[in-house]
Amino acid sequence: MKVINVCGARPNFMKIAPLMRAFRARPGIEPCLVHTGQHYDDTMSKAFFDDLHIPRPDINLEVGSASHAIQTAHIMERFEPVVLAQKPDAVLVVGDVNSTIACGLVAAKLLVPLVHVEAGLRSFDRTMPEEVNRVLTDAISELLFVTEPAGVRNLEREGIDPSKIHVVGNVMIDTLLAHRELAEKSDVLERLKLTPQTYGVLTLHRPANVDDPRVLAGILDALEEIQRTTPLVFPVHPRTRGNLERTGLAARLQAMPHMILTEPLGYLDFLKLMSRAAVVLTDSGGIQEETTVLGVPCLTLRANTERPITVEQGTNQVVGMSPIEILKAYRRIRAGRIQPRVPNLWDGKAAERIAEILLRWHAQRGS
Ligand code: UD1
Repeated sequence: MKVINVCGARPNFMKIAPLMRAFRARPGIEPCLVHTGQHYDDTMSKAFFDDLHIPRPDINLEVGSASHAIQTAHIMERFEPVVLAQKPDAVLVVGDVNSTIACGLVAAKLLVPLVHVEAGLRSFDRTMPEEVNRVLTDAISELLFVTEPAGVRNLEREGIDPSKIHVVGNVMIDTLLAHRELAEKSDVLERLKLTPQTYGVLTLHRPANVDDPRVLAGILDALEEIQRTTPLVFPVHPRTRGNLERTGLAARLQAMPHMILTEPLGYLDFLKLMSRAAVVLTDSGGIQEETTVLGVPCLTLRANTERPITVEQGTNQVVGMSPIEILKAYRRIRAGRIQPRVPNLWDGKAAERIAEILLRWHAQRGS
C-alpha cells in the first residue's frame, strides 16, 4: 500500500514523525514523505526533522510564505503532478494548516482516498483559518482519525458516515512520550538560567492575537504584570516577531526585566522547558494537549478551544485575551495545583493503531 504523507508547517512535524516510523516498520506500507515548504526556516522546520529523526522528505514543494489563497494555490499546483506520478493508494494529511487542505483537495479531485489524522476538532469559530481547513478536509476524507470523543460528535453532526471515523488517540502525544527521556538531557534550563517550577513559558502566534496591535498590546499588559513575579520565557514565532517590530511593541517587551525572549526552540528543548514550568501561557493548539499530559497548568489565550478534553480532563483553562481575565486565571493557578487525567488512548500508540486500520481498510478495498 503506497501512502503519500504530507507535512508543511511546524505543528505537522511532530504528528508525521510517529506515523513515518510506524509505516516504515510495516512491510505492507510503502510511505512517501512530501514537505510542502510552508515553513522553511531551520528553526521552524529542519530542527524538528533533526530532533525527531524524521526521514528527509522524498519531495519538497518549496512553496514558502504568501497570502492564504496564493500559498494554498501554489501547494495545489505543485502537489498535483506528484500525486499523478506516484499513483498512491492514499494521501495522508495531518492537522489543520493550509498544507492540509491544499493537498487534501488535490487528492480528492484525483479520486485518491484522503486520510485525515486529527479529524473532527472544532472551535466553531470560522474566523480562524484553521477551522475552515478542518471542516473542509474532514468533508472530503475517506478515513478520519480522531483524538477525543468530541471529534466523533462533531463529525457525526456534520453527516460524516460513522464507519469512516476511528478514535485512535493522539499522534502528537506519541511523539511526546517517545522523547520525554531524551528531552531530560536538554540543558535549556541551564542555558537560560532558570530554576524548575519558578518560571512560565509563553507562546503567541495566532493572527487573532498578534495581527491586531490593540489585542497584542492588551496581552502585553497582562504579561508585564506576570513577569514581575514569574519570569517568562518567550520563544518568538516569526509572524509575531514581524508584528512586534512593525507596531513598535517589541521595545516594550524588551524593556520588561524578567521577559526572556528567544528564537523558536527545537522540540527537545521546548519539551524540557514546558515540563519544568510553573505555568504555560499559549494560543497554540498542540501545547494545550502537551501540557495536559505533562500535568503543567496551561492558560489558553483564546476565546475558544477545539480541544475540549484538555479543559474537561487536563490542565487547560481557556481565558481569552483580556488582561483582567488572564491575570485572574494566573492568580488562581498560583493558589493551587490541579489533578489532571491523561485522556483515553493518549498512550503513545496512536500511530500504530492508524497503521493497523489503514492496512485493514486497504485489504478490504482490494477484496
Ligand atoms: C501556520 C498555520 C497555523 C499553525 C502555525 C504554527 C495556517 C493557516 N496556519 O501559521 O495553523 O498553528 O503555522 O507555526 O496554515 N515565516 C517565517 N519563516 C517560516 C515560516 C513563516 O519567517 O519558516 C513567517 C512569514 O513572514 C509568514 C509568517 O511567518 O508570512 C506566517 O507564516 P504562515 O505559514 O503563513 O502562517 P503561521 O502563522 O506560521
